[in-house]
Amino acid sequence: MGPLLSMWASIALLSMTLTAILASQYPFEMPGTPHVSQANVTFKEGPDVFSPKDLVQLTRPGSAVANPSGDLAFVSLSKYSLDERKYVNFMVVKGLTEYALSRRTDRKIQGKSQEVYAVSVQDEGVKSASEPALIGKFPATGLTNFKYSAEASTLVFSAYVWPDTNLSTIKEQDEAYENRGTTALVYDTAYVRHWDTWAGPKRSTLFSVSLKKENDQWVLGDDYLASLNGTDHYTPVEPFGGTDNFDISSKHIAYTTKDPSVPEAWHTRQNIYLVPLKGGEKPKQLTTGKQGTTNSPVFSPQGTKVAWTEMAMNLIVHFLQSKDCYLRP
Ligand SMILES: *[C@@H]1O[C@H](CO)[C@@H](O)[C@H](O)[C@H]1NC(C)=O
Ligand SMILES: *[C@@H]1O[C@H](CO)[C@@H](O)[C@H](O)[C@H]1NC(C)=O
Ligand SMILES: *[C@@H]1O[C@H](CO)[C@@H](O)[C@H](O)[C@H]1NC(C)=O
Repeated sequence: MGPLLSMWASIALLSMTLTAILASQYPFEMPGTPHVSQANVTFKEGPDVFSPKDLVQLTRPGSAVANPSGDLAFVSLSKYSLDERKYVNFMVVKGLTEYALSRRTDRKIQGKSQEVYAVSVQDEGVKSASEPALIGKFPATGLTNFKYSAEASTLVFSAYVWPDTNLSTIKEQDEAYENRGTTALVYDTAYVRHWDTWAGPKRSTLFSVSLKKENDQWVLGDDYLASLNGTDHYTPVEPFGGTDNFDISSKHIAYTTKDPSVPEAWHTRQNIYLVPLKGGEKPKQLTTGKQGTTNSPVFSPQGTKVAWTEMAMNLIVHFLQSKDCYLRP
């Protein structure tokens, strides 16, 4: 979304620039006069010139994830190639002074599954990264917001799922929904839109799965635990929530979600809850229930405390009756 949005911004900027150049070069013509010549627009390029092409092809970084010792950060990068007319995604391991590149240029997600790879970082004076080695495949695509606890050998992530919270049935249910024969949507609750997309039947929820090193080999488990199954909690909260909506320790997941006891559309309130990483217990609410929105829960290094930010008051939206009031798509 981020890179795409900035790409849009760049294209919009580029076309605005082009329009401005063209407008200033055309001589005044009476309406109806056919164009007989075409202005040739060439962009100035050179090592000391920042051209529109450079702008479009700028590398767009994702957010950095630090390793536990804090001397390295992993950053995913995305770069648009004008020659190939596509985005090229790769990862960088960045140290304080050196960096190593691990390019995964042509490995696109294909078919039904999303894969997980391991890259080992060697430190022989200069840090370097190995070629990515395939660890395993997930049962679905679209999995995101990964967090790993090395102590608990557990990987936690989010996915948009159907009410059965089953990763294996997402694709099949997506296809059935796409082919339902109508695009009409009927809402009987007030929450209809997540910013710029219609709220649909799928919701965002958290999963955990075992990921551990056995005999020097990484092994991905196949028992996916839907940590919030059976609750009416959904996180990350749409549309802006991401890895800042939950945190994991070696024993727990702390997350923010809309307070399920108040109408979603009219209240800002989000509560923070704690649930065991291995499941088996109901979520425990940590917030007082008087606050507004909450964000960025983080565990202390020992996992004994959770900190988060919160809005002091719950803001409630009141709609006064008005005959001029209408909803527009
Ligand atoms: C644009 O370039 C073409 C090919 O180089 C040339 O024939 C034409 O005269 C140019 N047009 C203008 C308006 O400079
Ligand atoms: C998920 O769906 C698959 C395929 O239909 C099924 O085999 C599996 O038992 C389901 N898992 C759960 C936890 O319901
Ligand atoms: C989620 O809970 C429902 C109802 O209790 C159950 O049928 C389903 O198998 C559960 N899904 C997973 C992935 O545990």
